[in-house]
Amino acid sequence: MRTLRVAVIPGDGVGPEISEACQPVIEAAGSRAEVQVESAQLDWGGERHLRLGSPMPEDGPAILRNFDAALFGAVGRPDVPDHELIWGLIIRLRQELGLSVNLRPALTFPGVPSPLRDGAAIDLLVVRENTEGEYAGAGGRLRSGRPSEVAVEVAIHSRAAIMEAARFAFEAARRRRRRLHLVTKSNAMRYGYALWDEVVAEVAVDYPEVSWERVLVDAMAARVVQRPKELDVLLCSNLFGDILSDLTAALVGGLGMAPSANIRPGQRLGVFEPVHGSAPDIAGRGIANPSGYLLSAAMMFDHLEAGAAADQIRTALASALQQPELRTPDLGGAATTAQLASAVLARVQAREGSRG
Ligand code: NAI
Ligand code: MG
Repeated sequence: MRTLRVAVIPGDGVGPEISEACQPVIEAAGSRAEVQVESAQLDWGGERHLRLGSPMPEDGPAILRNFDAALFGAVGRPDVPDHELIWGLIIRLRQELGLSVNLRPALTFPGVPSPLRDGAAIDLLVVRENTEGEYAGAGGRLRSGRPSEVAVEVAIHSRAAIMEAARFAFEAARRRRRRLHLVTKSNAMRYGYALWDEVVAEVAVDYPEVSWERVLVDAMAARVVQRPKELDVLLCSNLFGDILSDLTAALVGGLGMAPSANIRPGQRLGVFEPVHGSAPDIAGRGIANPSGYLLSAAMMFDHLEAGAAADQIRTALASALQQPELRTPDLGGAATTAQLASAVLARVQAREGSRG
């Protein structure tokens, strides 16, 4: 038995409901793979921010370094400005832990409704640069409140960060279907995205077996809807990856289905979180879809070389989602968070029994 130390950060809104319902599934899936999941709950998020003035302790990133991984629910509450939590927690962790790459797979599950007419079987991976671009935080405001007020938000694109994301994306493509699309906008933005084009072309030379193409982000938005089956790995800047991955999530059943991983290539510690936010419109009703969180836990197990535990979660979830009565309202069903999570747990445990 190997032990994995996981920091669980339920956060706000639907985060705690989902996290609580999923914890037994994660532990059971771990034990199927000879992995003991040892979790510590951290009270970081909006409620802490209101109580103590910051969403996490000053040494939050250092605290996480004592763990193998962090599993994060969501933050955001109506009585705290969004940017204070996003910057005070999520973006700070990404930047200070050097989590330079964000992975957002979109995978169709049989039975989960898609808005696409032919319910396309989609299996793609968005690889998003995670620390700079338009979200680097460089900028300022002048002439506050006056009619002449201006705001400047400067995008930063570094050769090093582009190269790291690009190498990771080509490696991923090599293990997948060997197709990569670089998503850019270098026709209109002539500096940052021109650097992306150049650096990615340099990296591509080392991966002759991967066929790649550069597509402008607006054209890619259309292509994701019209021909998603052709897509394998999408390599994106921070902003474009954020937007396109919500679109790809929508095509495979919505935000409730979408997982993500914040990692640094070669580093063990990563932060794994569903793509969705705190969903205040449904929080407290116990009806949030736990799939994105469970699939994020599966990505965590994959990253920590516990692929058997990841497979447990994916297989059990896929099986449960085939039953219409186990689907949550966002998927057109009437199941609660707890009902779906318990059904996944039962499947993990049943498989455990059957193998003796
Ligand atoms: P959201 O993702 O919370 O909700 C968007 C829509 O998707 C809502 O209609 C919601 O009910 C639905 N939805 C989201 N997760 C779901 C789930 N698991 N099951 C079923 N339906 C689900 O995004 P929104 O409304 O823009 O933001 C709400 C708050 O969350 C804001 O404070 C925002 O800043 C924060 N946020 C936090 C993120 C994070 O913690 N990583 C990411 C995105 C938003
Ligand atoms: Mg987003």
